[in-house]
Parts: sequence; structure tokens; C-alpha cells
Amino acid sequence: MPSNSASLANGRLIYQTGRDSDGRLIVARPPALYPNCAACHRSNGAGGLHLPGGAVSADLRRSALISGQAHPYTLGLVERAIATGIDNNGQPLNRVMPRWRLSTRDLHDVAYYVLTKLK
Ligand code: HEC
Repeated sequence: MPSNSASLANGRLIYQTGRDSDGRLIVARPPALYPNCAACHRSNGAGGLHLPGGAVSADLRRSALISGQAHPYTLGLVERAIATGIDNNGQPLNRVMPRWRLSTRDLHDVAYYVLTKLK
């Protein structure tokens, strides 16, 4: 899977607007409360939004995903969190974090964007 400027542009689009590489809105099962990542995690990834059921959106910046983590997030672990809701320690995330149905390419690109561009 290439990781280049085209991946980053596609990843940014998905994260900020919820539109995939075909221009369709991304979907999750069960349906997501908000249609794109930025709506919950903020444009810059800082998170901290209080959501229904006491959930608080995670900080997705590099500092939070990697520094000080026993199992720092890798690209594969970010992909797993987005698609299956399992975090870097193997624990299930709160259900308010949608389990996204993305193509292999879109999953890679949005994870790559999160890991390299949110700081
Ligand atoms: C409806 C709100 C919402 C949307 C939309 C959303 N998330 Fe989340 N996300 C959350 C919440 C809440 C958590 C924290 C869950 C917990 O604490 O168990 C989370 C956690 C995560 C984590 C795990 C972080 C960690 O510290 O372990 C990642 C990665 C993530 N989200 C990425 C994304 C991406 C990428 C998208 C868009 C494709 C997205 N999220 C869309 C609410 C959301």
C-alpha cells in the first residue's frame, strides 16, 4: 500500500469531511453519531469532546498515540482501532467510537493521516 501525498490527501478528506475516495459518505455499523472523524476528534485531533453515555473523544495527536504508551500505536494498530474498535492495548473502545466500514485503501489512508499529520 503506497504511503504518499495522494494517500495523505485522501486520508485528510476522509478525516475532515467523511467522504471516501469515491466521494461517498463513510459508514459504520451501528451508524455513527457524527459523519466524520473531525466532528468528534476535532480538526486538529485534540479530541476532548464529551459525548453521550459519558464517552470523551480520544486525543489522536502523535503525542497521545505514541509517547508514553506501553504499546505505542503503529499504522496497523490505528487501522485496527478504526475498523474494529480494539485499542493499542487490545481493549475494546467505547461504542461511541464507530466501527468504520472502509476499503483497504481508505482505511490505510485515514490511519496514515492520523498517525503522521495530527500533532
Ligand atoms: C461519534 C464520535 C466519534 C467519531 C465520529 C469518531 N470517533 Fe474515534 N473515538 C471516539 C471516542 C469517544 C473514542 C474514545 C473511546 C474510549 O475512550 O474508549 C475514540 C477513539 C478513537 C481511537 C483510539 C484512540 C486511543 O487513544 O486508543 C482512534 C484511533 C480513533 N478514535 C480514530 C477515529 C477516526 C480515524 C475516525 C473517523 C474515521 C473517528 N475516530 C471517528 C469517538 C468518535
